[in-house]
Amino acid sequence: MASQISIIQCTDDDLPSAMAAISNGFGHDAPFFDCYFPAHDTSAGQESGLKRLQFWKENSPNSTFLKATTEAGKLIGFGVWTFMTEPVSDKLDEVEADVGETWPDKDDADHMRELWQQYVPYRNGAIGDSKVLEMLAVDRDHQRQGAGLQLTEWGTRKAEEMEIEAVVEATPIGVKTYHKAGMKTVVEETDMDLSPRFADRRQVKLIFLRKGGTSG
Ligand SMILES: CC(C)(COP(=O)(O)OP(=O)(O)OC[C@H]1O[C@@H](n2cnc3c(N)ncnc32)[C@H](O)[C@@H]1OP(=O)(O)O)[C@@H](O)C(=O)NCCC(=O)NCCS
Repeated sequence: MASQISIIQCTDDDLPSAMAAISNGFGHDAPFFDCYFPAHDTSAGQESGLKRLQFWKENSPNSTFLKATTEAGKLIGFGVWTFMTEPVSDKLDEVEADVGETWPDKDDADHMRELWQQYVPYRNGAIGDSKVLEMLAVDRDHQRQGAGLQLTEWGTRKAEEMEIEAVVEATPIGVKTYHKAGMKTVVEETDMDLSPRFADRRQVKLIFLRKGGTSG
């Protein structure tokens, strides 16, 4: 039988395990994640990802960093819910501490800049003053045990208490969990139209879902 899962706020000490769990959880199944966390399954990529999680946690007072743990206290899942109060900049260089350090390859950096510029308008369009699940992943060895749903429902419940919408930006892999949490699709599929120089890169498709507010 699967062990009892608890949802608890992360401390700074949890972030290395969180980075490992999200890298392992996503694997290479989600092109956007691979672009956003380059080489995340290498030690250099993990170190860089960890630095960015730390920067994010320190600089986003409206974000709640959550972990899902087993009875033994092992971190098996990670989620970040943010109460959004203003639109995000579509300029990657304005939201990242150091683009050149995170994406040392110039083509990778330019590709990420374009992706970001095309993705953010979808995001800002789907999100008003709402609670947003910005990241969610469960370690592969612990998937299908309810951790993803519990991390999702933590935020949908908070949003309900605040009488605002809960919004999720999803990969196709996450959609079933969000449907199970009662969320409804509002953007079926992003249509990113990148420069021809990136034609051979994997296509990024994201889906937006929401619950509450006026849409039910
Ligand atoms: C998406 C993800 C977070 C779900 O986490 P999880 O802990 O495995 O999900 P849960 O066990 O809470 O599943 C809840 C429900 O979602 C559905 N579901 C989840 N994963 C599924 C899968 N692989 N296939 C079919 N249905 C699935 C099921 O209805 C499931 O309920 P059930 O097991 O009682 O049938 C996890 O698969 C993951 O980390 N994936 C990689 C990262 C990712 O894509 N994150 C989402 C980004 S938005």
